[in-house]
Amino acid sequence: MDGPELAGSRNWRSAPGLRAALIGAGSVGTAVALLLARHGHDICGVASRTEVSARAAGARLHARVFDHSTELPDSDIVLIGTSDDAIEEVVEGVAERMRPGATICHFAGSLGIAPLRAALAAGAHACALHPVQALPDVDTALARLPGSAWGVTTSEGARGWAFSLVSDELEGIPVWVAEEHRPLWHAAAVTTSAGLRALMSSAVAMLESIGVEEGATVLAPLVSGTLANSLEGGGVALTGPFVRGEAETVARHLASFDAHAPELKGDYVRVAVLILEEVTRIRGVPEGAQSSIRALLDSA
Ligand SMILES: NC(=O)c1ccc[n+]([C@@H]2O[C@H](COP(=O)([O-])OP(=O)(O)OC[C@H]3O[C@@H](n4cnc5c(N)ncnc54)[C@H](OP(=O)(O)O)[C@@H]3O)[C@@H](O)[C@H]2O)c1
Repeated sequence: MDGPELAGSRNWRSAPGLRAALIGAGSVGTAVALLLARHGHDICGVASRTEVSARAAGARLHARVFDHSTELPDSDIVLIGTSDDAIEEVVEGVAERMRPGATICHFAGSLGIAPLRAALAAGAHACALHPVQALPDVDTALARLPGSAWGVTTSEGARGWAFSLVSDELEGIPVWVAEEHRPLWHAAAVTTSAGLRALMSSAVAMLESIGVEEGATVLAPLVSGTLANSLEGGGVALTGPFVRGEAETVARHLASFDAHAPELKGDYVRVAVLILEEVTRIRGVPEGAQSSIRALLDSA
């Protein structure tokens, strides 16, 4: 059963002109505020840890700078764009100044609405909205947020409002995530983004160890092709010696690491174990080959 109605309407298209205050003028918070402004909402104030960040974002948003330790502009929405570890403390500082029925949002992946509890106790609605995207700066965030998925967790009664906010105003794809599942939701995003980055670094280092420069350029077309196959799902993305059960090829890899790049062998073995498990799960590896490859990896 839904709780009290939120400021504005479930349908954001019919509720332009909401007032939003931003606390934490970093990449994500500033980009979200800019997207709201583009959709006709009023950014009524910007605060940050440092005045320089608040002023820079205030200039882009045509919004006044305020000090969140002493005031909060009258707002329908409070956006908390701080780093994860500052969210709870910042919310505790502003909760009493929020208008009852207003909504407070943060953007952290592994946290649900628990760090917003002080605002909830003061009569606000609470939303945890996590964009599944890599957003190193405001302009990149503006370009990448449309079309991205958002993990949405809300207090009772705010779910429809938050889904509409994400799809209509932030041009994203809302996905409901239960409060207790937020850490795993975030772990999946980290495994993808930082995991791909780590894999690429290791592969580039392997190429450098044999004198191949511009490793990222060499690997880029392979990355694109593999990504396309992976997004199709099923077994189509799986190619290579593990699929074919070529234990001798894996043995050659390991011997070459010993000869030329022993410091990178551990990376290869860790990834190879994952690959073998994936191939076994999806397609099956020829019987004897699977145990031969496993034995090679175990003894590496
Ligand atoms: N970047 C990403 O790829 C990404 C993706 C998904 C979700 N997120 C989430 O989005 C949120 C913001 O991340 P971000 O990448 O935008 O971080 P960011 O660019 O580092 O910005 C964080 C901002 O928070 C401000 N801040 C820190 N402590 C504060 C405090 N006590 N009071 C007021 N302001 C404070 C900082 O202010 P000053 O500049 O004034 O020091 C900084 O501008 C985080 O919860 C993060 O997990 C990020």
